[in-house]
Amino acid sequence: MNFEFYTASQIIFGEGTLSRTGPLASKMGKKALIVLGGGSLRKNGIIGRLTEFLNSAGVKSGFYEGIAKEPEVETVDRGVETALGFGADLIIGIGGGSVIDTAKAISGVVTNGGSVRDYLEGVGTGREITKPALPFIAIPTTAGTGAEVTKNAVISSSEEKFKKSIRSPYLIPKAAIVDPQLTWDVPPSVTAACGMDALAQLIEAYISKKSQPFTDALAIYGIPYVARSLGKAVKNGNDAEARADMCLASLLSGCALANSGLGAVHGIAASLGANPGIPHGLACGILLPHIMKINMRFDLRKFAHIGEALTGKRFESEEQAAEAGIEFVSELAKETGIPGDFRQFGIQPELIPQLAEGSKGSSMSGNPAVLSQGEIEGLLGSLI
Ligand SMILES: [Fe+2]
Repeated sequence: MNFEFYTASQIIFGEGTLSRTGPLASKMGKKALIVLGGGSLRKNGIIGRLTEFLNSAGVKSGFYEGIAKEPEVETVDRGVETALGFGADLIIGIGGGSVIDTAKAISGVVTNGGSVRDYLEGVGTGREITKPALPFIAIPTTAGTGAEVTKNAVISSSEEKFKKSIRSPYLIPKAAIVDPQLTWDVPPSVTAACGMDALAQLIEAYISKKSQPFTDALAIYGIPYVARSLGKAVKNGNDAEARADMCLASLLSGCALANSGLGAVHGIAASLGANPGIPHGLACGILLPHIMKINMRFDLRKFAHIGEALTGKRFESEEQAAEAGIEFVSELAKETGIPGDFRQFGIQPELIPQLAEGSKGSSMSGNPAVLSQGEIEGLLGSLI
C-alpha cells in the first residue's frame, strides 16, 4: 500500500476562534490582504472584528472584496495585482468556498507569476506552481466546501465556458480557522446546498478509487455529523451544536478529498456549473442519491458502512445497509428543500452530450464505476 497525505499545517476549530487570527497572522507577515465577498460580512461586523484582531497584533490590513459566486480568471488576476500593489506578505480569505478559492489562487500566483489561466488543468499552458505560495489563512463562513484545507481552487470562465482547477500542494492553506459562529447567518437554502456538498464530498472521498486509510478514517467519521445535524441547521440557523457539527463535517470532507479525490457527483456538478451555471451544492445534492445507486455494486462493503453511518443502525445484509443509506440521502435532500431533479433550470436536451463530455474532469477518475458517455447522458436525460 502506497499513499501520501497533505493537509493544512494548523487547524484551529471552535466558537470564538476568529480572535486567534491576529496572533497567528503576526507570525506569518506584517501586511495581510483580506479577500472577501459581498457586504454581508461587513454589515454583521465580522470584518470589523477581524481587522481589530489583526491591528492589535501589529498586522496591517488591505482588502480585495466583492468576490461574487464562482471566481473567474480575471477575478484572480486582479486580486494578484491588488496583492502586489499593497505589498502583501500574507493572504487571508474569509467567506464561502468561492472566496477561499480566489484567495488561495492569489496566494499561489503572486509568488509564481503569470495569469491563473496558465496553471488551470486542461485549459492552461501546463505551467506548474513550483514555488511556495504566500502564507495563506483560510477562514470559512459556510459549512460545505472544505476549501480551507484543500490544495486546489476552482476557477471559471463564463466566456470560454469552463470550470477548472489550479492544483498544487503549495496551495494548501498554512492555517485554517474554523469558527462555527461565523456560519450562523447563512440562510437555510445555502445551508442546505453547502451541507449536501459536504455529504457528497465525504461519501465520494470514502468510496474513491484513490481512497487510503487516512481519508477513509476522516470521511466515515464525518458522515454521522451531517446525518444528525444538517436538518437542524437548516431549520434553525442559531442551533450552535448543529452549526458546529456541519463545520466539522465540512472540514473533515476537505481533509479527505484533498488526498483521495472525489467521484462522478463532482465530475458532473463541475460540468453543470460551467455552462448552465447550476450552483455547486445544489447540483451535488440532486445528483448524490442517483450516483450512489450506480456505484453501490462496485463497493458494497463501503456502501454498507455509509448506510450504517447515516442511519445509526445495523442491517442483516450489506445490500440492505447500502440501500438504507441511499434512501436516507434522498430523504435528507427532500427534508432540506433540495429539488429532486434539474427541471426548474430549463436545461436544453441538446446540451446533454456536451454536458456529459464536460463531466470527465479529474474528479471522475476517482469514481468506482467507469461511466460511459451514454450512461452519463442517460442519467442527465432523466433529470432535466
Ligand atoms: Fe464539492
